[in-house]
Amino acid sequence: MPTIKEILQTMDYGPAPESTKEAQAWLDQHGRRFGLFIDNAWTEAAETFGSFNPADGSELAQVSQASADDVERAVAAARRAQPGWVAMGGHGRAKVLYALARLLQKHSRLFAVLETLDNGKTIRETRDADLPLAARHFYHHAGWAQLQSEEFADYRAVGVVGQIVPWNFPLLMLAWKIAPALAAGNTIVFKPAEFTSLTALLFAEICVQAGVPAGVVNIVTGDGRVGEAIVNHPGIDKLAFTGSTEVGRIIRKATAGTGKKLSLELGGKSPFIVFEDADLDAAVEGLVDSIWFNQGQVCCAGSRLMVQESVYPRFIAKVKARMQNLRVGSPLDKSNDIGALVDPVQQQRINGLVESARAEGCEIWQPSCEMPVGGSWFLPTLITGASTSAAVAQTEIFGPVLVAMSFRTPAEAVQLANNTVYGLAACVWTESISLALDVAPAIKAGVVWINTANQFDAACGFGGYKESGFGREGGKEGMYEYLTPLAEDRRPAAPLAPEKGKVKPVEEGVPFAVDRTAKLYIGGKQARPDGAYSRAINGANGAFLADIGEGNRKDIRNAVEAAHKAAGWSKATAHNRAQVLYYIAENLAVRADEFAARIAAQTGAKNAMQEVQASVERLFYWAAWADKHDGLAHQPPMHGITVALNEPVGVIGIVCPNENPLLGFISLVAPALALGNRVIAVPSEAHPLSALDLYQVLDTSDLPGGALNIVTGSADELARTLASHFDVDAVWRHDGSAEGCAEVERLSAESLKRTWTGGAKGRDWFDAKQACGKTVLQHATQVKNVWIPYGV
Ligand code: NAI
Repeated sequence: MPTIKEILQTMDYGPAPESTKEAQAWLDQHGRRFGLFIDNAWTEAAETFGSFNPADGSELAQVSQASADDVERAVAAARRAQPGWVAMGGHGRAKVLYALARLLQKHSRLFAVLETLDNGKTIRETRDADLPLAARHFYHHAGWAQLQSEEFADYRAVGVVGQIVPWNFPLLMLAWKIAPALAAGNTIVFKPAEFTSLTALLFAEICVQAGVPAGVVNIVTGDGRVGEAIVNHPGIDKLAFTGSTEVGRIIRKATAGTGKKLSLELGGKSPFIVFEDADLDAAVEGLVDSIWFNQGQVCCAGSRLMVQESVYPRFIAKVKARMQNLRVGSPLDKSNDIGALVDPVQQQRINGLVESARAEGCEIWQPSCEMPVGGSWFLPTLITGASTSAAVAQTEIFGPVLVAMSFRTPAEAVQLANNTVYGLAACVWTESISLALDVAPAIKAGVVWINTANQFDAACGFGGYKESGFGREGGKEGMYEYLTPLAEDRRPAAPLAPEKGKVKPVEEGVPFAVDRTAKLYIGGKQARPDGAYSRAINGANGAFLADIGEGNRKDIRNAVEAAHKAAGWSKATAHNRAQVLYYIAENLAVRADEFAARIAAQTGAKNAMQEVQASVERLFYWAAWADKHDGLAHQPPMHGITVALNEPVGVIGIVCPNENPLLGFISLVAPALALGNRVIAVPSEAHPLSALDLYQVLDTSDLPGGALNIVTGSADELARTLASHFDVDAVWRHDGSAEGCAEVERLSAESLKRTWTGGAKGRDWFDAKQACGKTVLQHATQVKNVWIPYGV
């Protein structure tokens, strides 16, 4: 044993083990065998599996593998409990959430040690990050419950929600899922990951103490089969999933057409960008938090290091020196930085990826520290010399492995950063605020940390772009994931047929007197359909009205290309976009008679003129919103601000309703354009001519070519192409086709694009509550949170 004097001389770390006594006692108290928590009672454990300590491989407890019957009982209990939970009111629920937060704090050491035992992450992290963040989440959401009737007056709880989480932040992910769901008035069937069930089971106990009524929170343990049973259960109204992109896709496909609300928080391959003017030492510390936090088993880990060429060698030398000082060892030792990986299977997976990089000629560097014996470990690893397309540069490794590359200019940095299918997070390091705020919006990711890394807070939404999923957790946007607008309940069971009036004979309409085959509208020009086919459109009285172009896959591809070229529309000022929409409204109003006659000729509607007037008003409405859907400035507990920006989704494919051929079209296309998206619209299949008459209006309204493209033809075929296209970011379908909507959702799973589908139900397009408002704004934008700490 060295003397204190000797220790002070060498400044060596001594052992600083955390006691596991209480956690072991808790496990013993349960006989190290756990049933399921359903309706506030524990079931007898039937089929069980082991939960192991990844640091030494020892078994901690046996945990139940829930059966389909168990899931059934959990869903039934949640269903029974839901009306009562809603009836408790916002304040009633706030008190329960507050009690949960307090209990998490009171038992924080027990939770932290149990989490470290079960997961292998260091006690420093469970104690200082997982637990405080989880408690904060419940406090924050106690607040949303309290404010619900004021802030979400036009919404109701979704109902029974199924929640499935991974093993990397077992308790924190539970908090991210359960707190907002409870605040909004939902009841829950929750499944932890099979490697890490224990803190969820301890949480079940504190639910009882906090006064959570029976059936409100149900915890079913087990592997992916239990997850599948939850996903496929017809009694589940909403699913929230965090985990691998692969399983996210399976869930997207499985829920297609079921009407279940869905949020997916999936993988990432986040860039960590260091500009030459950055504080390099601070950036190195940020990098440690970014890629070596939680052994790199973090969905938003900064796993791709990008350093400006001029400082690359210096920065890499600093990184290696810092890596040499990382302490790898028992996660229960308070001085260790890196603990154990969750399971040997992860160790093998990571090793496989690193060895394949070595075989491809990459340089693999690891510090010369000793690998602990027993358990599953991986030393911090730096890979250099990988090409940007190498597997290690593209695949989510989910381990303590960093891949480094260099860039020359900010534009190249952005291009490299976006060279991934993922879009969860990014870090930008520079002392130039102007450069940082120029680069942050250009990176396609849901979170951008400037001169900081891996910061989280309940008030700031978290979630991905692209294949990192959709939906947000935290903040007000996270609450909407667990709410349904009341207006949705008022939607008619089927599309509303027009009230028929006297149809004006076609010959009387002056503009239609000369035969004209309407073409497609691509890149601001009329284009002949690729297939050179036309389809005849008949009017309400059965008479032939016009031939229109039969668009096909090639036409959609051309339209997508044109939309991408029109990226300037997304960068145009909101004021400018509003002006264009007002201009369209103005030009439409001038030709109101002609448009009304056309609507009447197609549908026989008595209220054709009202439809034109409503369309003009809707254009005004969305023009008004263009420069008012501002983001927010959050003040999380740090010295700085987090700016939540509402960014356009990108390129949106819109299949318009059949009814109300003008108003339906405008109601969907105008908000998408107003918020800065580029659009490929498929007009009403039955009555497309009103949209085609808009060509001239668009040509005279300063809308840049490619911002809005119009392709006519078979809604099914065109929707299919849009949903499968990898360069389309979202598809909306509202033509009342249940099967068509289901197909869009199914096909969207490949690229994990966002969808907004109306199913078989109709929508009263004249009713602003059903056709306007926040729901549309939310579909037309995605939130990016930019964290900007200050101080020197
Ligand atoms: P996973 O996605 O298979 O598991 C996450 C959760 O989903 C677990 O609770 C699991 O039981 C459940 N699950 C599995 N199959 C399911 C199904 N068909 N339907 C419903 N639920 C299902 O992730 P896994 O296997 O634990 O890790 C594999 C890889 O996934 C990791 O190496 C990592 O690359 C990635 N991953 C990414 C995460 C992230 O947050 N981005 C989290 C966990 C894993």
